[in-house]
Parts: sequence; structure tokens; C-alpha cells
Amino acid sequence: MNLILKGLPNPKQAEFFCSTARHTAYGGARGGGKSWAMRRKLVLLSLRYAGLNSLLLRRTLPELRENHVIPLLRELSAVTQYNSTERVFKFPNGSRIKLGYCDSVNDVYQYQGQEYDVIGLEEATHFTEEQMHFLCTCNRTVRRDFSPRMYYTCNPGNVGHAWVKRLFIDRRYEGDEKAEDYAFIPASIWDNKVLLEADENYIRQLESLPEDLKRAHLYGDWDVHAGQFFREFSRSKHVCEPFEIPSWWKRFRSIDWGYNDPCAVLWHAVDGDGHVYTYRELYVRCMRADTVAQKILELSCGENISYTVASPDMWQKRGAILKNEGGFEGESIAELFALSSVPLTPADNSRVSGWQRVRSFLADAPDNTPYWQTFPCCENLIRTLPLLSFDTHNREDAADGEDHAPESLRYALMSRPGTSKQKPIIKQAPYDPLATEKETGSFLSLN
Ligand SMILES: Nc1ncnc2c1ncn2[C@@H]1O[C@H](COP(=O)(O)OP(=O)(O)O)[C@@H](O)[C@H]1O
Ligand SMILES: [Mg+2]
Repeated sequence: MNLILKGLPNPKQAEFFCSTARHTAYGGARGGGKSWAMRRKLVLLSLRYAGLNSLLLRRTLPELRENHVIPLLRELSAVTQYNSTERVFKFPNGSRIKLGYCDSVNDVYQYQGQEYDVIGLEEATHFTEEQMHFLCTCNRTVRRDFSPRMYYTCNPGNVGHAWVKRLFIDRRYEGDEKAEDYAFIPASIWDNKVLLEADENYIRQLESLPEDLKRAHLYGDWDVHAGQFFREFSRSKHVCEPFEIPSWWKRFRSIDWGYNDPCAVLWHAVDGDGHVYTYRELYVRCMRADTVAQKILELSCGENISYTVASPDMWQKRGAILKNEGGFEGESIAELFALSSVPLTPADNSRVSGWQRVRSFLADAPDNTPYWQTFPCCENLIRTLPLLSFDTHNREDAADGEDHAPESLRYALMSRPGTSKQKPIIKQAPYDPLATEKETGSFLSLN
């Protein structure tokens, strides 16, 4: 085959090329030659294994075109046939590289039933964990000479930050995930001598980024996550020791409904000063509405719940409601809950003001504790709230991702008066019999 592929891999890229792990991630910072390495790896595999079927994905079409379609056309046009409708490069040995994108969350399902020996996820943190899991189900082969592989490139930040960090940086494995299946080859701009020599400004641009972005994008620091929506959330401040909730405190619940997506139910209590404590969560998937209602009643046994706010989409009449969601044609999920003795109130779903409300509850009240805290048992809320990212199209909004528990919290706090409307807390001065009345008065100011 008369193909000249220009450029040699740098040592980190060579390490990436040599990895045969089931899942290999490369990069972790900007400019480390990630896209180059991903493209080149798939081409080399296609040449080495005749009839290999690969899929290369980016989140959006413009990114896909810019990063892969155009460079691959330049590199491969002499030896491959390109079908622009299907976006497939066909090699003379029968190998194919298909290029795709998954703009909306459900776009991955177009690959249902398809089989790829190799799948490359470029900028893997732009994909949700659900999308990654689904794509793994398409990564299978009947070949005997090749076992299926997934390749990932990544930078910190975005909706997939948590799962990429868990699997490749923290190496925390769940269920049937095995540590030996995951390899990570870190690379940064300093590993990419070609770019350093060709564009001296690039590193200066990275150095002049705001501190958080610089740590993430230049140094590949996964602890700050670029684009994090709730920077102010901190475990030490917002997760409190559980305590017995006084019986006179108002209690209420909030629900973000989902059947295929998780359904997030939260229980909250309000003290006399307007602090809200989230004290319980129910986070379930694929559970019928009547079963969820039943669980809610069991968990709330003996508690006086004032009201339950819930996602307004639960009032939609469904043409043909799925039987497994527990209802009949024409019934709404809210009706199903009401029939199961959990009457609901539609939540205020204004997203931007809702997130602002959450932000204001994360702030300190005059008594120096935050307006909102959660008990440690609300694990999914604690895990997903700090993972929310900014929507790149609307900086006031959060991006899609695993946002079910945060949405439930948003509905809850929108049902409460805003923090600015809450009555100020007047701290009683310590009793000092020697203090004059005037001096004591100064203690009674707002604190
Ligand atoms: N081994 C290499 N040989 C030649 N050019 C390379 C090599 N690795 C990367 N480059 C070039 O360096 C630049 C940055 O690489 P790229 O893969 O886009 O980085 P990243 O995706 O990590 O931001 C691109 O112009 C790319 O073509
Ligand atoms: Mg890139």
C-alpha cells in the first residue's frame, strides 16, 4: 500500500500506541497531541488488521469535521475511499473507520445493535457516563485475532469529568470493572515538541488562562474541574453530622422523576431560622411510579410531610404510557402518584433563577453556617452536585449530565422563600450583669 503517514509519535504517543488494554485513555491536558494520537492509532490498527471495524466519535459535528474528517481526508485520500454520507473511510484491506458524533444525549442509540472492534471517544469528558456505558455494549467482536478495545482522549472538566476521573485517575472500580482493563497515559503540551516549536504562543495562551482553567488545562489537574457550576459546594461545609430533627420543624419532599434516567426523591426539613437540611434521598432507576410512591410512603412513615414538589413534566398526559412505568394510556405520572397516596405540587421549573436559588442557599447565613446542608446519607446528591458543569451555550445554566438529584434540590429550594427574604438572625448577647444596657444593645445587632 502506498501510504506515507507523516510524523513520528512522541514518547507518550508511542506508549499510547503500544497499549492493548481493554480501555486506554490518553492526555489529561491540552496540546498533548491527543487528537493526532487517536487518529493515527485507528489508522495503524486498520492497516494492521484487515477487515477491522472502528468507530471514532466526538460530541459535535463541527468538532468532528475540524479534528478528524478534514485531517483524515488529507492523510488518507490516496489510499482509502471516503463515503461522505455515511462518513466512512474504507481501506483496501476491508477495514473501515466510521466517524460519528453524539450531539444530544440520546444520539448514541443510533449505534444500537452495531458492532465495532474499536471505539475511540475523543474528548471523552464531553460524553456522559450513560453514553460511555452504552457505547461499551457496541464494542464487541467475533474475531479471534483481536479483542475489543476502547480508546479515550480527555481533558479535565465537562459532563464526563467524574467517570473519566474515577476510572483513569482515581482508579476506583465498581461492579464487574477490573483495574487491569484500564490504562491511562498522561500527556501535556510539554510532551508535544512539534507544537511547542511550531507555536510558541500556544503555551503562553494556556499560561494566561484564569488559575482554575490553567491548573486543569495546562497541568492536567483533575481536582479542580474547569466549568464546575457550584464551586462553592464543599463537603466540609455542606455535609453536616446527622441529628434528630425536632418534631416541630417543617418537612417536605422534592422529586425529579425519571424511569430510564434515575428518579431522585429528597426529604428536607426547615428549622426556625430558615435553614434547610436535606436528610434523606431515594435514588432509583427503572422503578414504576406506584412502586416509587410506595417506597416514599414507607420511608416517610411517622413523619408529618407538608408537601411534595415535583418536576412539572410529571403532569404531561402520556399518549401511551409505558406499562412498566405503572400506568394506563392518558394518565400522567402525577396522577399515578396521587392514586398511590402521594399527592404532588408542580415545582417552579425556572432553571436560571432556580440554580441562583441553590447558589444562595449554599452561602452562609448570618450565623456563619450555610442556609442549606445535607446529611451524609444523601450520597448521590453529594456526588453529583459538585459535578454539575456550566452549559457552554448559557453560562447561567447547568449542562446536561447526571443532574437528577441537583434538579430535585432546585425544585425544593424554589418552594422556599429566597434567602434574602428570610428574617435576620438576632444573636442574644451573653449575659453580663456588669454590662450597661447600651453595651448589651450593641450585641443585639445583626450577626
Ligand atoms: N507526533 C506528531 N507529529 C506531528 N505533529 C503532531 C504530532 N502530535 C501532534 N501533532 C500536532 O500538534 C498539534 C496539536 O496536536 P493535537 O493532537 O491537536 O493536540 P490535542 O488534541 O491534545 O489538543 C496538531 O497540529 C497536531 O497535528
Ligand atoms: Mg484535540
